[in-house]
Amino acid sequence: MIKLAPSVLSADFSALAADVARVERAGVQLLHMDIMDGHFVPNISFGSAVVKSLLGKTALPFDVHLMIENADRFIPEFVTAQTEYIVVHQEACAQLGRTLDLIRDLGVKPGVALNPATPLSVLDCVLAEVELVLIMTVNPGYSGQKFRPAGIEKVRKLAEIRRERALSFQIEVDGGVSPDNARALAAAGTDIFVTGSSLFGAADAAEWIRAFRRASE
Ligand code: DX5
Ligand code: ZN
Repeated sequence: MIKLAPSVLSADFSALAADVARVERAGVQLLHMDIMDGHFVPNISFGSAVVKSLLGKTALPFDVHLMIENADRFIPEFVTAQTEYIVVHQEACAQLGRTLDLIRDLGVKPGVALNPATPLSVLDCVLAEVELVLIMTVNPGYSGQKFRPAGIEKVRKLAEIRRERALSFQIEVDGGVSPDNARALAAAGTDIFVTGSSLFGAADAAEWIRAFRRASE
């Protein structure tokens, strides 16, 4: 069963809890939080105060995607009673193993993300230490960008490596995900689909989710 993780970045910030409740009722499994610092990516989004403001306003577990430099310094702020995953970028962590240990020691599942231009091989030595690998299918920084299809083959290769090495991390995709690419991504081995503008932009979230699930089968 595939999981959907709507990205709060595409929600209505002026009515955040209500907009999150709307997609939650329609049937999603995680809440994806895009944290951007204006350094690692060319945009600033929101910080831990906004993440914490949703505590108890939704029952969904949080999937925190840190697109930031100096992740070690900020990670503790994002540990909450609802934080399931904290995902850091390989490109932003000079001592990735240390950062993953820090997340795990704080009681949260560690994940690692790769930009479209970063090959899977950089993760060879840490795959056994992560609970999730996030394959970016856009260059991070903004919602509403065009899907980069090269990510499909990357997911397929990653799923193959996971099988060969008998590992059990989740494979997540993020960026331009819509019913149009759901089938190819699911067939390649994607477990968790981050969906921003396509889902939040749909007038009927439940209908969008039905269409997405149908397409992914
Ligand atoms: C991109 C973010 C994504 C993005 C997804 O930098 O990590 O989570 O908000 O939005 P869509 O689905 O519109 O590409
Ligand atoms: Zn994201």
